[in-house]
Amino acid sequence: MRKRLVAGNWKMNTDLNDGFRLLKDILDEIREKELENSDVHIYAPFTHLKVFANTLNGSGILLGAQNCHHETSGAFTGEISTDMLASVPVGGVLVGHSERRQYFGETSEQLRGKIEQALNSDLSIIYCFGETLEERESGSHYDVVEQQLRSVLSGLPADAWQHITLAYEPVWAIGTGKTATAEQAQEVHAHARGVLADISSAEVSNSIRILYGGSVKPNNAAELFGQDDIDGGLIGGASLKADSFADIVRA
Ligand code: 13P
Repeated sequence: MRKRLVAGNWKMNTDLNDGFRLLKDILDEIREKELENSDVHIYAPFTHLKVFANTLNGSGILLGAQNCHHETSGAFTGEISTDMLASVPVGGVLVGHSERRQYFGETSEQLRGKIEQALNSDLSIIYCFGETLEERESGSHYDVVEQQLRSVLSGLPADAWQHITLAYEPVWAIGTGKTATAEQAQEVHAHARGVLADISSAEVSNSIRILYGGSVKPNNAAELFGQDDIDGGLIGGASLKADSFADIVRA
């Protein structure tokens, strides 16, 4: 059985004071009982990580970063390496979010580098993929998703997969209030599992968690999470309110 996972991606929201208050509110809402049924991760801005790591220590909630660099170290002004993250300590990192692909031009090659760096630093990874509205409307979404998985994940060593979670985030559903229907999401998740069986093994394909992201809210989470191949969610807007994030975890 795959344990459920609900992850909050705060994106570029909250200053340190507001973020700390939100974290405290989340800790008040999410207790041991919730964590028995679901893993919970929070992907916070870089500036928050050190303080959050101290606060979350022993809570059972995993703290992650929203990005990392694809090289180990060096002359890359303004960038953050996976060893820096691990030393905070941070437990995981998001790789391949569509906002990073779209606004920062991140390529498959760079995303593969980030995954390799994260593995070397013992960080867990949520690798995001998903098609644009144009790609969905032209019917190429299955091919696009397959390409995003194959180009970045093919040929990983067998022991890498236990550190990786996938997140299907159709770009047209992110922050738009337009959720993929449970059926639309399930179809792509099942397809992704098939691709994984081909590039890894049947065992990996059955055991890896695939999250859905894109306008998940308390009122649609249960239906989405009830699909066979959907193992939880990557939550943007609704993770910025403690009560709605906790309601999604309970769903
Ligand atoms: P929203 O939940 O705000 O649509 O964002 C989804 C997302 O991009 C999470 O990474």
